[in-house]
Amino acid sequence: MPLRIDVITIFPDYFAPLQLSLMGKAQQSGLVTIAIHDLREFTSDRHRSVDDTPYGGGAGMVMTPEPWGQAIDAVVTDQSTLIVPTPAGKLFSQPVAAELAHSTHLIFACGRYEGIDQRVVEYYRPRIDVRELSIGDYVLAGGDVATLAMIEASVRLVPGVLGNPESLVEESHQLPGVEYPSYTKPPTWRGLDVPEVLLSGHHDQIARWRAEQSTIRTTHNRPDLLPGS
Ligand code: ADE
Repeated sequence: MPLRIDVITIFPDYFAPLQLSLMGKAQQSGLVTIAIHDLREFTSDRHRSVDDTPYGGGAGMVMTPEPWGQAIDAVVTDQSTLIVPTPAGKLFSQPVAAELAHSTHLIFACGRYEGIDQRVVEYYRPRIDVRELSIGDYVLAGGDVATLAMIEASVRLVPGVLGNPESLVEESHQLPGVEYPSYTKPPTWRGLDVPEVLLSGHHDQIARWRAEQSTIRTTHNRPDLLPGS
């Protein structure tokens, strides 16, 4: 069964890039179906408003629960996972992407402003799998770009989407660290040579060199990923 993805947003145009490259091919081949929904279609007032001032005071606006309830009800089933991108969520990671890739139905609720009235999460949590997820320790202007990142990371792990699944095996060999550096032709560029070992044809030496480079890079760039840290 293909993975179904529904995205609810006030900026449907943000999702045009999903027609390109690997994500476009995944949809064309029928492995994934992605539908984008405009939250404003689910408002009932003349101004199609989606936000209001926060109870308790404070800066900014909060998205009202009413249109969100209507929009989510229009797509939800008991098989759905509701994903709410927020900097206050649990950190999205490769294992989470793999879980999402093996789901039946994902609904992304893209908030703007100071987020969505928390009762939307409270309402759906006893009914379906609900995940508040952050893509990193920085604040975006809304959940749309975070949703694009999570869809791309997850959809490439749907079986059949990658033409060469060997690349997933290589990625997983580096975990929990980061990947080794890559080189291609020409062998010399602006006086810089490709590391000799990669031209040697000695597969065991190449594997050892790559594992070392992966450790060096992880130590330098991501010491937080080293065992015991
Ligand atoms: N919305 C705003 N910032 C975000 C982040 N870092 N992750 C997910 N959603 C967000």
